[in-house]
Amino acid sequence: MTQHSSAPHAAVAAAQHRDWWRDAVIYQVYPRSFADSDGDGMGDLEGVRSRLPYLRDLGVDAVWLSPFYSSPQADAGYDVADYRAVDPMFGSLLDADALIRDAHAHGLRIIVDLVPNHSSDRHEWFKRALAEGPGSPSRDRYHFRPGKGADGELPPNDWESIFGGPAWTRVPDGEWYLHLFAPEQPDFNWEHPAVGDEFRSILRFWLDMGVDGFRIDVAHGLVKAEGLPDLGSHNQLTLLGNDVMPFFDQDGVHDVYRQWRIVLDEYAGERIFVAEAWTPTVERTANYVRPDELHQAFNFQYLSTDWDAAELRTVIDATLAAMRPVGAPATWVLSNHDVTRHATRFANPPGLGTQIRTAGDRDLGLRRARAATLLMLALPGSAYVYQGEELGLPDVVDLPDEVRQDPAYFRGAGQDGFRDGCRVPIPWTRTGSAYGFGGGGSWLPQPQGWGELSVEAQSGVAGSTLELYREALAVRRARRDLGAGDAVEWLRAPEGVLAFRRGEFVCVANTTGESVTVPAHGPLLLTSGEVGEADGETKVPGDTTVWFGTAR
Ligand code: NOJ
Repeated sequence: MTQHSSAPHAAVAAAQHRDWWRDAVIYQVYPRSFADSDGDGMGDLEGVRSRLPYLRDLGVDAVWLSPFYSSPQADAGYDVADYRAVDPMFGSLLDADALIRDAHAHGLRIIVDLVPNHSSDRHEWFKRALAEGPGSPSRDRYHFRPGKGADGELPPNDWESIFGGPAWTRVPDGEWYLHLFAPEQPDFNWEHPAVGDEFRSILRFWLDMGVDGFRIDVAHGLVKAEGLPDLGSHNQLTLLGNDVMPFFDQDGVHDVYRQWRIVLDEYAGERIFVAEAWTPTVERTANYVRPDELHQAFNFQYLSTDWDAAELRTVIDATLAAMRPVGAPATWVLSNHDVTRHATRFANPPGLGTQIRTAGDRDLGLRRARAATLLMLALPGSAYVYQGEELGLPDVVDLPDEVRQDPAYFRGAGQDGFRDGCRVPIPWTRTGSAYGFGGGGSWLPQPQGWGELSVEAQSGVAGSTLELYREALAVRRARRDLGAGDAVEWLRAPEGVLAFRRGEFVCVANTTGESVTVPAHGPLLLTSGEVGEADGETKVPGDTTVWFGTAR
């Protein structure tokens, strides 16, 4: 247990503030790649616990942990075999308890991942469903169906798995079961009351353990359209297109969240839900965060936007306009464990989406990534930071095929078979085993030179990306008005430049490659790169963001 002096740390004081989640900066820990305490090459909960002071000093409000539950790891833990157990690879329930307690002592909240759309195929319920056979009640908790064709040899409908290939797998007795993701991830049947009962019980289990909230995996997928209709000519993989899919974003999901909200609100301490909901529009995303449903939803429209002023302004305005009527905070996110890191996305030409396999111009990518961070952290609402982005890490685009683990990679035509590149364990030290990640190597190889990007190499170095994040987060914490509210006041700005005011604070983001000169809107507070000042004007170089105002 951590020892405390009598004066509470600033983070502890900050954690007391009401409605903490409305402007919170939430840091995503991907447990297998964060810190390894026992030298098996795989990160673990004790590793996370040992690094809590780092997260506290970075200045984030909460930590979201990707799944650490008992799992065969067919999809890096998003295939859960027991929702109430910690996988031995990550530690034990005692470790989880210690982590939650220590985080609270540091003024950090803990959000855990909940995976309600599907279980592992090793979950007790699925094992029973397989064993008890067609027609048995245990099959009703999943989507089992006879096949089509003379001998049932064709899948029940034309849905494809998000990871590629059919969304159905046939079992030896001839029936098929639905899996929107890997075959090892059978979808629950949310029409069955036992499924809802079980998940409300799981919520209580973790709430009783003291967690501060849940990130809901595939929150848009739980309810399927009546009769599981064929897609026909719809484009299967359009996650942010205009179509509502029969397996995504069905109106029935909202009944589930209204029930969950009732459970959550029985617990003291402002606990929250955040939805991973890929919907066609921000307006449909807003449905998930109506007052009696969830608190936040990830803004994938923002994450999917190129480094382009006009496009960014459009999505910022659309987001704020969509969230305002439901009273939910906007959220902003640039990276997570499913997409190419933004330092690499922005190193490549625009229009390539969020799965990019080329390194591009690394210096350019980093410059833009830093500028994008200052833009994001100046917007009203809550922001998500993915582990390692504070080090400016690029994606590792040249992992050899034999080390890859992303199930989508093996299923070929899936939307995103290259997610391993953003999951490489992070470097803590310049040298040493796995650059300080742990004493026994790392489950994915780290590139040569990774140590130069480490926490050790960047700490205390003026202008480093880590220090930029620390300063920006300190400003956000000192002046809560940055994350507050639901609007920005746009200022006139040259083409390719975004400028907006929040009280006496002004943010100017130059997304072009050329310098622009703007009026000095006040004292220079923070900049993502070197800027020049003369005669009441500020010269903002290309791909640079500037904050004007006072630190307060
Ligand atoms: C979304 C998660 O973020 C991703 O990593 C996972 O593969 C799918 N959901 C399936 O659970």
